[in-house]
Amino acid sequence: EKGGYPHFMLKEIYEQPKAIHDTVQIYLNKDGSVNFKDLGWTEDCFDDIDHILITACGTAYHAGLVAKHYIERFVRIPVSVEIASEYRYSNPLTTSKTLCIVVSQSGETIDTLAALKEAKRLGAKSLAVTNSISSSIARESDNVIYTMAGPEIAVASTKAYTTQLVALLLLALYMGQLRKTVKPELVKEITDALKDLPKQIEKVLKENDYMAEVAERLIKAHDIFYLGRSIDYAIAMEGALKLKEVSYIHAEAYAAGELKHGTLALITEDTPVIAVATQDNVSSKMYSNIEEVRARGAEVLGIGYEDDAEIGKYTTETVRIPRVDPFIAPILSVIPMQLLAYYTSIKRGNNVDKPRNLAKSVTVE
Ligand code: F6R
Repeated sequence: EKGGYPHFMLKEIYEQPKAIHDTVQIYLNKDGSVNFKDLGWTEDCFDDIDHILITACGTAYHAGLVAKHYIERFVRIPVSVEIASEYRYSNPLTTSKTLCIVVSQSGETIDTLAALKEAKRLGAKSLAVTNSISSSIARESDNVIYTMAGPEIAVASTKAYTTQLVALLLLALYMGQLRKTVKPELVKEITDALKDLPKQIEKVLKENDYMAEVAERLIKAHDIFYLGRSIDYAIAMEGALKLKEVSYIHAEAYAAGELKHGTLALITEDTPVIAVATQDNVSSKMYSNIEEVRARGAEVLGIGYEDDAEIGKYTTETVRIPRVDPFIAPILSVIPMQLLAYYTSIKRGNNVDKPRNLAKSVTVE
């Protein structure tokens, strides 16, 4: 059942090229435009929408944080991303002009379902992004789009997350296409890159042995910091969560520019740092942040593009991903972090597929 892999988590990490291929191909037209025709959306259907709310839990919430960048860039409607268990008790300002997008692999997470019901009660239109056909969340939502990840068994989400990023990017492009807030040429450029993505992921998976080696050096750490800016900050949050849940090492993600407002006090030679640097508009700022933590003695594993000649000047070592559009980069940069979490967990002797205290689908509040 594990197809020759020692654990489901590793198997599912390696299934990402296929899962992404399957998710991309069902939503594309031959001309490279995006098609979610089952939604029945029309050009004018966003005229009454002034706010998009994304709500979810855990890893799915992290996918929502990336999607905010996608939607605001391509659709030009303000997006807020809320943790589902916080949203419903926050007396929210949701109205009939809100589109509520819920993201849930299982489609059964009770907090996400309750948030969806609350948004609907307040008049919002709703759309679910889920991996589970006929799940409670799929049934409760006005519209549904599916990720084609296939069954995910390991408690730590990997392929469900990357397919959520793909589905949400396609969704943002589709909405932009309808609203004419994105040029068809740009849509085609990005969808072409998405078609190529499974191959690029195969390349990143070749870093497997290197990540196992880095993990060996991290197993004694008590605290590990993950830094990034912009979309890389959202990805850093996912990297830190993955490490925490399977390795039981404390990890924290920080918006790199925010470090010096307090957290820099915690950085010493005993706090390894993972620094993600794929967003070109902030890369020079990111390099200075890496220098800041190096100056406090921290060792830094950078995650950067293969043609980035700069990053290696600042990091202790660097894992490379192929050069892709910065919107697509998170789908590649998260993979070394998944592998790192996996190897740190097994080297510490943990039950990587079933970490302590956790359940795959959280159906209690
Ligand atoms: C972390 C993880 C959880 C889930 C969260 C939401 O690896 O898997 O954080 O993402 O419990 O689950 P779904 O997506 O099923 O609603």
